[in-house]
Amino acid sequence: MSEHPLITKYREFSPSSGELGERARTVFPGGDTRSSAHYGPYPLVMDEASGCRLRDIDGNEVLDFMNNFTSLIHGHAQPDVVAAVQNQVAKGSAYAAPNTDQIELAELIVDRVPSIEQLRFTSSGTEGTLMAIRCARAATGRQKIMKMEGGYHGSYELAEVSLVPFPGRRGDLDAPASTAVDGSFPDSVLGDTVVCPYNEPALANALIDAHAQELAAVIVEPVLGSMGMIPADKEFLTTLREATARHGIVLIFDEVITLRLSEGGAQKNYGVTPDLTCMGKIIGGGLPVGGVGGDKALMQLFSPDQKSPVMHASTFSGNALTMAAGRAAMLAYTAVEAKRLNTMGEKLREGFNQAFAQTGLRARALGSGSLTNLHFTTDEIHDSRDAFTGMVAAGELTNLLHLTMIRHGVISATRLMYCTSTAMTDTEIDTAVTALHESLAELRPYIEADWPTLLAS
Ligand SMILES: Cc1ncc(COP(=O)(O)O)c(C=O)c1O
Repeated sequence: MSEHPLITKYREFSPSSGELGERARTVFPGGDTRSSAHYGPYPLVMDEASGCRLRDIDGNEVLDFMNNFTSLIHGHAQPDVVAAVQNQVAKGSAYAAPNTDQIELAELIVDRVPSIEQLRFTSSGTEGTLMAIRCARAATGRQKIMKMEGGYHGSYELAEVSLVPFPGRRGDLDAPASTAVDGSFPDSVLGDTVVCPYNEPALANALIDAHAQELAAVIVEPVLGSMGMIPADKEFLTTLREATARHGIVLIFDEVITLRLSEGGAQKNYGVTPDLTCMGKIIGGGLPVGGVGGDKALMQLFSPDQKSPVMHASTFSGNALTMAAGRAAMLAYTAVEAKRLNTMGEKLREGFNQAFAQTGLRARALGSGSLTNLHFTTDEIHDSRDAFTGMVAAGELTNLLHLTMIRHGVISATRLMYCTSTAMTDTEIDTAVTALHESLAELRPYIEADWPTLLAS
């Protein structure tokens, strides 16, 4: 089969990345060391970045709306962060001992995030959710964890159960099946997970009541990230709060992504306080990080003063370099900046949605505040099943739009997730909207030929 003309154009745009991509295939499976950041035919190899701009090894400059999967709240090389890292790296990067920045960053988070009285830093969001789950099991003496269909909590099996609601395997909406996303899942993990439909308060309530005696925790993202930035209805989170409290189940908010939605996270916006909160991404100022925090009585289970504390070792937790970067980044992330980022996110969605309406493409920009994802449907999207329908309808079109947007100067996640950074202004939002208009115009003949059902009649 011959190559799609738009892929050929991408190759012509980025020949050096293509060459390095071939070389990478020798040493990395599939030519990459990180599956989530990979896209075909090969990703752009980046050379440098500053503010909201990335430059690849061919010298192409693109606006970065991906921000390392939402983690770079200030874009790249923010001056305060650079100064803090330069100062710290010369003094050593990791001591296996407390340091001042560690305590100050923790104080800042405790001050801002309503649910957090104490916390532990981890080296990744994955480790943060893992430690939250272990804490909940230790606290309750129960084993099972309820997670949402379409929810992603990191790179381990339990955190990925039923991530993609494949029809034929997913079961009924009132009791979704626990399904594996690949061949690596032991049956025991599937058996330890109760899957709950997202944004269905009555069904969630019934499932929690039915499994109450075996549930240690319910873990939920206030905005369902991996399946397309689907915001939770307030009633859904309130119901989870009430039902878990009724049965002594630990409610965990995974705010690895959503902490950026206000200076106190999504929980502050919703006014719903979980028992534990998982963090990551923005709190490291661009360096690897994660964390779990919450109610003091629960967090005390990690205390070395305990007879049998929940084991938390983690070589790079709280390392001096990440803490210096994180503290600088979070100090610069004020309530005013959070609001500005969210307003720019709303403007981006508005502009994108106007572009879709003008083109007659059945697609929409969905999200919350600074977080946006494109979906190829105009139907309502309130859970991962709705989002999956749009993904199937689009198929390869998603990547073609992604590659075309890159040639028009804007990069997002392959799944067409966009987020704003404080390095942006309205000018960059306008540029992104223009890039979508231009990309859709270029794609139009291919959509007419291969995806006619996505065009309004
Ligand atoms: C909601 C959520 N939880 C947890 C994680 C895992 O974080 P990390 O990749 O830092 O391990 C992610 C990563 O994207 C995430 O989006």
